[in-house]
Amino acid sequence: MKRRSILKQGLGIGLASALPRFSLAMARPPEDGNSLDYDYVLRAEKGRAQLVDGGISDILGFNGQFPAPTIRVRQGERLRLRFDNHLDEASTIHWHGIRLDNAMDGVPVLSQAPVAPGESFIYDFVCPDAGTFWYHPHINSIRQLGMGMVGVLIVEEREPQPYHEVIVGLKDWRLRADGSYLPLSIPREAFRDGTLGTVNTVNGQQRPVIEVPAGAPLRLRLLNMDNTRVYRPKLGGATPRMLALDGSPLTPHRPFALTPLGAGMRMDLGLIAPPAGTEVPVYDQQGRFGVELCRLRSVPPGQPTPALTALPSLPANPIAKPDLARAETLRFVFEWQGALSPTGHDGQADHSFWLINRRAWGEHGKQSLPAPLAELQRGRSYIAELHNATPHQHPIHLHGLIFTVLSSDKRDITPYESDTILLEKNERARIAFVADNPGRWMFHCHVIEHMKTGLMGYITIA
Ligand code: C2O
Ligand code: CU
Ligand code: CU
Repeated sequence: MKRRSILKQGLGIGLASALPRFSLAMARPPEDGNSLDYDYVLRAEKGRAQLVDGGISDILGFNGQFPAPTIRVRQGERLRLRFDNHLDEASTIHWHGIRLDNAMDGVPVLSQAPVAPGESFIYDFVCPDAGTFWYHPHINSIRQLGMGMVGVLIVEEREPQPYHEVIVGLKDWRLRADGSYLPLSIPREAFRDGTLGTVNTVNGQQRPVIEVPAGAPLRLRLLNMDNTRVYRPKLGGATPRMLALDGSPLTPHRPFALTPLGAGMRMDLGLIAPPAGTEVPVYDQQGRFGVELCRLRSVPPGQPTPALTALPSLPANPIAKPDLARAETLRFVFEWQGALSPTGHDGQADHSFWLINRRAWGEHGKQSLPAPLAELQRGRSYIAELHNATPHQHPIHLHGLIFTVLSSDKRDITPYESDTILLEKNERARIAFVADNPGRWMFHCHVIEHMKTGLMGYITIA
């Protein structure tokens, strides 16, 4: 049964209200009638979804559904959300890309106690940056994310933007034709690029057709919410502009360039919808071939579309500019223990296969933490040299801060702001940021199996 969409009062601004129906479902109010105390209630619970034609799949869902409710908040405003854990295991919610208060970051032990079954937690934070973000648990992630606990978080610009918004939420599933699960992780894959899904979905459907108003300026918000896959999104027969990467606006926007989106990464594309009756396929470019993900179909607009001669750029976010001349340099090397066998004698996966600066996250006692990878001084600028000393790609993600990607020895980079950088094999790249958000912040690979087998650490800012 599909729950009906309820628009949050005051948020149905401009063209943004014309979202695809299936991505706008809102959290339902709590039974105790205190819904006015929260903007949203998200309940972690088991559910069912039809993801393949051959059968229904069990999922772990926010409000038992997939796609999860899309959370919307205005830039600079507070989001108050009650999380009820109705699973039979602990969970949390992490707000990927948001520069929030450390206590709201949703990382068990590092920033909050895990939310036990039957318990609730109130997330309450301000979103300083506008853009395309997402949310997911940060515990038992292969299973919780792999079975559906991923959702879209949109932070609206202070001033409404004249774009018709289309959410393209990408996630693969490890399913057989009858809807039952294949093993979510295969050890030998975990030690390479990660275990790939067998079924691609966009907003929970295979190859959906998304209607868009002809002639309208479109903002495609593409989100890679998969555990593993690198998508290379490309449009057929249309040349979009790149409006934003990983939530951060490219101001002014840039011409389209094929940009691999590793797990956790996002890209906003702008284009004018073609005349009614025309379709624009969205492909995942795999080598010479494009695998269709979904298509946009232009239909006669229901409301007059603004006449635009050029697509407007998005306003920049208030990110502090690092002082490169005075920045301290940090070094992070991502390695693997190639000599070790990936599975132990007991057949269990080795939890310390991948390393950051010669250390693996490992399986720590539930209440103890390893030492931080680096201790940073609040307010200082830092340059981090990242060296991927492995023959695999790693989307490296930092919590709580937005960094500037400066350079790479493998490609030309026009600096841009981001929360995740996809390191190619053997690549060396430089990022920089101002350490202006105090707390303990995770720094990890977003290939979930890599993070679970060692490629995770944290920095402190005090
Ligand atoms: Cu998407 Cu540790 O985050
Ligand atoms: Cu994150
Ligand atoms: Cu990785």
